[in-house]
Amino acid sequence: MPAVTIVGMQWGDEGKGKITDLLASEAEMVVRYQGGNNAGHTVVVNDEEFKLHLIPSGILYKDVVCVLGNGVVINPRVLLEEMEGLTKRGIDLSNLRISDRAQVIMPYHPVLDRLEEEARTAWRIGTTGKGIGPAYVDKYSRYDAIRFVDFIDEDYFRERLKEVVEVKNRVLKKVYNHPGFDCEEIFEEYREYAKALRPLVTDTSLLVYDAIKAGRKVLLEGAQGTLLDIDHGTFPFVSSSNPTAGGASAGTGVGPTMIEQVAGVIKAYTTRVGEGPFPTELSGDEAKCLREGRGREYGVTTGRPRRCGWFDAVIARYAARINGVTSIIITKLDVLDEFDTIKICTGYKYRGEILRDFPASLRILAECEPVFEEVPGWKQDITGIRDYDALPTEAKRYLERLAELTGAPISLVSVGWEREDTIVKTPIW
Ligand code: GDP
Ligand code: IMO
Ligand code: MG
Repeated sequence: MPAVTIVGMQWGDEGKGKITDLLASEAEMVVRYQGGNNAGHTVVVNDEEFKLHLIPSGILYKDVVCVLGNGVVINPRVLLEEMEGLTKRGIDLSNLRISDRAQVIMPYHPVLDRLEEEARTAWRIGTTGKGIGPAYVDKYSRYDAIRFVDFIDEDYFRERLKEVVEVKNRVLKKVYNHPGFDCEEIFEEYREYAKALRPLVTDTSLLVYDAIKAGRKVLLEGAQGTLLDIDHGTFPFVSSSNPTAGGASAGTGVGPTMIEQVAGVIKAYTTRVGEGPFPTELSGDEAKCLREGRGREYGVTTGRPRRCGWFDAVIARYAARINGVTSIIITKLDVLDEFDTIKICTGYKYRGEILRDFPASLRILAECEPVFEEVPGWKQDITGIRDYDALPTEAKRYLERLAELTGAPISLVSVGWEREDTIVKTPIW
């Protein structure tokens, strides 16, 4: 049963899009299992860049079925815009499918997201403002959520929307002094979206099940990353879903025993967008060197500069355990090409003690001082290298040290943003 989950091992933006696209060349199906258009997955092919927010990163292959699973929160307006953008670029979307159980992001969700953030000062999460949190709140509270199966049922949708918008308007007006929404206006706009998307909506858990059962290669593409997981991340500075490997089963509707491998994508250094502690964070020239140049560390969804720091093996070890990773894919190694020396955080020092495990308390994490070891850089351009053994000795030593500290073997190493800029150490399939 060759199903593989692709999971981010840090705070997102590890290069999941690039890796999913590469592996999808041999796959039958790619499934997104959580998150929404807070994600920004970049795929670069022959100098042409695609920034995908909702559509799975297998879409550039005509024959790969791309599924938005039940765990995803979908803004229909954004999805249709993304589809239009891709169609204009000649991408065939005939294999795109949407789960009938996926949740709909309605226009009040992004508004509530922003208002919630503005209402706070010290505890701002720094969300992407796409309505992800409010949409998941509605899902779990159950009262006001609308699933795709209900969204495409026009009579049901109209009836449901009336009650939901009334409740939302009460909150918007009384709590946030916002004028609220006109239910009829939303209905008129959204019924058109529903009509356009209706042909794509189906029980996708069946599609995925049948593909895996038939021995076809299926990729389950995570968005965000382990430390943005609602249960296992740096709460409350997290997203509202489970990007970790456990979420892949719940978010697609296939049993965990049907997923054979978990490939953890991890950058050769660390980045983070939004608020919250970051033990190995750098400032000054070193941060600039990672962010500018080949790193291009600016958010795909919001354009915000990403905070940058050294590789954190405490995080890597934690993510390997939480996700049960079977191999790691190290990305953006080329970004370190110019450094004389490179630091690796091997542990945290907290009040004179060395912590072995990633702490739950952010107050503790904020006080943790990284314990670094320093290794020599390789000082040469590695983007053209395709063979692991051809890497400079220092680069190989660096990679092997990361694998040793993480406790998982390396399958792939990415040395550039182009699909081809990849070294296969051990094939995933
Ligand atoms: P995702 O959210 O995990 O899919 O990652 P993003 O697309 O948000 O961010 C990764 C960025 O790094 C994108 O701009 C990619 O094009 C780029 N990228 C991916 N792999 C590599 C690599 O090995 N080297 C370099 N220099 N860039 C890479
Ligand atoms: P990909 O899939 C990096 C961060 C936001 C914020 C927090 C909560 O591209 O790796 P949200 O809008 O989800 O409620 O924001 O999570 N965040 C991401 N950071 N990559 C992402 O996705 C992210 N999706 C959300 O910056 O700190
Ligand atoms: Mg991203």
